[in-house]
Amino acid sequence: ALEAQTKSIVAQFDYTDEDVNKGVKEFLRQMGEGLEKDGTSMSQIPTYVTAVPNGTEKGLYMAVDLGGTNFRVCSIQLNGDTTFNLTYTKVAIPKELMVAKTAQQLFAFLAKQIELFLRTHHEEHFEAHVRRRLTVSSPDGYMDENVFRLGFTFSFPVQQSGINKGTLIRWTKGFDIPDAIGKDVCALLQIEIDRLHLPVRVAALVNDTVGTLMARSYTSPGKTGAVLGAIFGTGTNGAYIEKLENLKKPLTGEYDKSTGDMVINTEWGSFDNQLNVLPNTSWDIQLDKSSVNPGIQMYEKRVSGMFLGEILRLALLDLLKDPKVSFFKDENSSSNDWKSTTNIAEDSSIYTEWGIDTAIMSVAAADNTPELSVLRQELESTLHIHSPAHDDAEAFKAIAGAVARRAARLAAVAIAAVVLQTGQLSASNDEPVDIGVDGSLVEHYPYFREMIYEALRIIDGVGEEGAKRIRIGVAKDGSGVGAALIALVAAGMEKSTT
Ligand code: BG6
Ligand code: GLC
Repeated sequence: ALEAQTKSIVAQFDYTDEDVNKGVKEFLRQMGEGLEKDGTSMSQIPTYVTAVPNGTEKGLYMAVDLGGTNFRVCSIQLNGDTTFNLTYTKVAIPKELMVAKTAQQLFAFLAKQIELFLRTHHEEHFEAHVRRRLTVSSPDGYMDENVFRLGFTFSFPVQQSGINKGTLIRWTKGFDIPDAIGKDVCALLQIEIDRLHLPVRVAALVNDTVGTLMARSYTSPGKTGAVLGAIFGTGTNGAYIEKLENLKKPLTGEYDKSTGDMVINTEWGSFDNQLNVLPNTSWDIQLDKSSVNPGIQMYEKRVSGMFLGEILRLALLDLLKDPKVSFFKDENSSSNDWKSTTNIAEDSSIYTEWGIDTAIMSVAAADNTPELSVLRQELESTLHIHSPAHDDAEAFKAIAGAVARRAARLAAVAIAAVVLQTGQLSASNDEPVDIGVDGSLVEHYPYFREMIYEALRIIDGVGEEGAKRIRIGVAKDGSGVGAALIALVAAGMEKSTT
C-alpha cells in the first residue's frame, strides 16, 4: 500500500512536457503585460541600470545584502581584470525583526552591523573620516574620499525611481513589516547610517538578481555579457536585459539612453498568481493558506527553498495520517491517535508548520547508497524518526524528489521564456547565451541544473540545439560584487550630473 500511495503522490507532482510548453507561452505573455503597465502579476520593474560591466571596472566599494538566508556586509575591491577581493561578515536576521513593528527597528539593526563591520575591517578608513569631519567646516561628508559608496542589495519588490531610490511594493519570503510598505528603503537605511555617523553613502539600490547578472558579466565577460541573472534560493526571481523600445510603461527617473537597453527585474516569483497555468495540488493550496501572503508569489511558492520543505511536509503528513498505509509506523503501538502510532518523536519538526528545511531534500537526492544509510541517519537526527526503515526512507526520497523535480521544470519555464524574449537564440552565431545563477537551491540541490536542462531541451523554440547554447553558471556571492558594480555606475552618474 505504501508503494501505491507514494506513486499516487509522486504523480500529482508530474509536470509534463506539454505543461512546460504551456507555461513558457503564458510566461512570455505575462512578461509582455508587465512591460506595458504597472500593477500586473509580474511587476517587470525597470532598474535604471542600462549596461552590464565588461570586467575592467576598478575600485573599493561596500555592499550590504538583505533578503537571502543571511544578512551580509561586504567590502569589495574590484581589480579591473575580472577578479575581485571580497571581505564579508554575515549574520542570520533575527526572526523577530522579520516581523518587527516598525521598519526603523530592522534598519537600525542593519546600520549597527555595518558599524561593526567597519570597526573590524576598515578601522583606518573610519578614523580618517572622523578626523576629517572634525577638521573640515563643510558638513558635507559625502565629498570625503573616505566615504564608502555602498550598494544596497535589497531582495524584495521595489518600485524604483532611480538608481538609488525606490519604494517597497510588498514583502516576500516571510518578512512582514507593514510600516515599511511604500517607503524609500535607501532613505530608511541612510537615516540609520547617519544616526551612527558612519562614513557610508547608500549609492545604489540593487535586487539580488540584478547583482547576480552584473557579477556574472564582470567575471565571465563574453562578447555580449550575461543576459539573465537568476536566484533559486530562499526565494526565486530573475533580472534580464530588455530593449528600451519594448518597455512601454513610463519611466520617471534619469538614465543613460545610449545603450538602448535596460535591466528589468521581473519579480517572477509572482508569475501567474491567477493560476492560469501553474500546477496546484492540495498541498500547494494548504501552504498558500498558511503563508503570510496568500494569493501572491504563487510561482515562488512552488519553486524556491523556503517553500519546498513545507510542500513535502504537508504531503508526508497525509501519508502518515492514512490508516491503510504503513509509513514510519511503530509496529508495537495500538493507539487510535495517528501520531502515537508512528515512530516519530513528539517533538519532531515534521509536526510543525514550516518545520522541514529544504536541505534534507538535498540529502535525500544525494543519497544513492542501496541502503539509503545517509538519508536514514539524517531522518533520525533532524526529524527525530526512530530507526527509519528502508522502505519508508525510499518513499520519503521519492516524494521529495518529485517536489524538487517539479520545481526545476518550473525553473526551466522562466529561464526559457526570458531567453526567448531576448531573442538571443535566433541570433545567427553560436555564441553561448550566458546566465548567472545563485542561491542555496541551485547551489546545493543535486542535479537541479541537470533537471533544468532536461526540460529546456523539450521547449519549443529552444530544443536540443538551443539548450546546448544556454550556459547556466553559478555566480557565487554574486550580489555583493554586483552591488559594488552598480555603486560604481552610480558614482559615475553622480559625477556627470554635478
Ligand atoms: C547570496 C546572495 O549568495 O544568495 C544574496 O549574496 C541572495 O543576495 C542569496 O539573496 C540567495 O540565496 P539564499 O539561498 O540565501 O536565499
Ligand atoms: C523574492 C523577492 C525578489 C528576490 C527573490 C530572490 O522573490 O521578491 O525580489 O529577488 O526573492 O531572493
